[in-house]
Amino acid sequence: MKERLEQLKQEALTEIDQVNDIQALTAVKVKYLGKKGPITEVLRGMANVSAEERPLIGKLVNEIREEIERGLNLKETAIKNKALEEKLEKETIDVTLPGKPISQGNRHPLSKVIEEIEDIFIGMGFEVAEGPEVESDYYNFEALNLPKEHPARDMQDSFYITEEILMRTHTSPVQVRTMLNKKGNVPVKIICPGKVYRRDDDDATHSHQFIQIEGLVVDENITMTDLKGVLLNFAKKMYGDHAKIRLRPSFFPFTEPSAEVDVSCMMCGGDGCRTCKNTGWIEILGSGMVHPKVLEMAGYDPERYSGFAFGMGVERIAMLKYGIDDIRHFYTNDLRFLDQFKRV
Ligand code: PHE
Repeated sequence: MKERLEQLKQEALTEIDQVNDIQALTAVKVKYLGKKGPITEVLRGMANVSAEERPLIGKLVNEIREEIERGLNLKETAIKNKALEEKLEKETIDVTLPGKPISQGNRHPLSKVIEEIEDIFIGMGFEVAEGPEVESDYYNFEALNLPKEHPARDMQDSFYITEEILMRTHTSPVQVRTMLNKKGNVPVKIICPGKVYRRDDDDATHSHQFIQIEGLVVDENITMTDLKGVLLNFAKKMYGDHAKIRLRPSFFPFTEPSAEVDVSCMMCGGDGCRTCKNTGWIEILGSGMVHPKVLEMAGYDPERYSGFAFGMGVERIAMLKYGIDDIRHFYTNDLRFLDQFKRV
């Protein structure tokens, strides 16, 4: 019986040695260690073994079974390792290959310009204020010295929602709202960026919705010189140190006197070119000293306080900065246009 067991062990180990995959290995395991296998069979024959020999044979069987099991385990690990190695071999990664580019978005050019303008004014001590786009006729017009039937209302053709409510036509109502919030306190020193709406037909230079940045300063002893100084500093920061500005008389019902502000042409430096229509100057904003009636309606004594205000169109500033010839590019979201602002 001993020999028979030794023989079985040798056979099993040889077979284990020869198999090369897990399936075949499992078959060998079942064949030798399974319920119908030769070892079980030997155990069954124990009844015929003499009492002295029985423990010895039992021990031997266990040893042989353990040895076969060890052989099976070693082989299993070897097969798995080999499979893993083969897999790794096949899957080699060339870390020097260029990666797949991740297509990244970027900020909209108008957002960038708004931020740049905000930074310039924050640097001069201004705060950023906001107001609603759906506005009452009172704040949009009346409190800005534009009573109903005032002919100057025609300058800003409006989208009315009801008789008294409209889409704001400019950011100037935020002047009124800010002054009322401040309840007569000074200084008031704000800029207000935001969308405005006008019933214009869209073309290369007009859009029914565009963005303005309003500015307002109110305090004692504010004069036109302060207006000019602040706007000259803005022009230099925005367009370079060589930039000059000039004020031309104009009219707005909420400022007196009023002025259009031109900046020396950033394309030709003032020599005259197509962009500035050979004048050397480009209009960038409307401004003026806050009308005494506007101060008064907002709770500021015009005898004691004075202020200046200005309003600029952000699209226009951006178009001049980047040489964009059609305002509609900002709103059609063509990636060929937008992608050009990745690095600016
Ligand atoms: N609100 C004016 C406009 O939209 C611009 C402006 C603002 C003018 C403040 C003077 C003072 O045309």
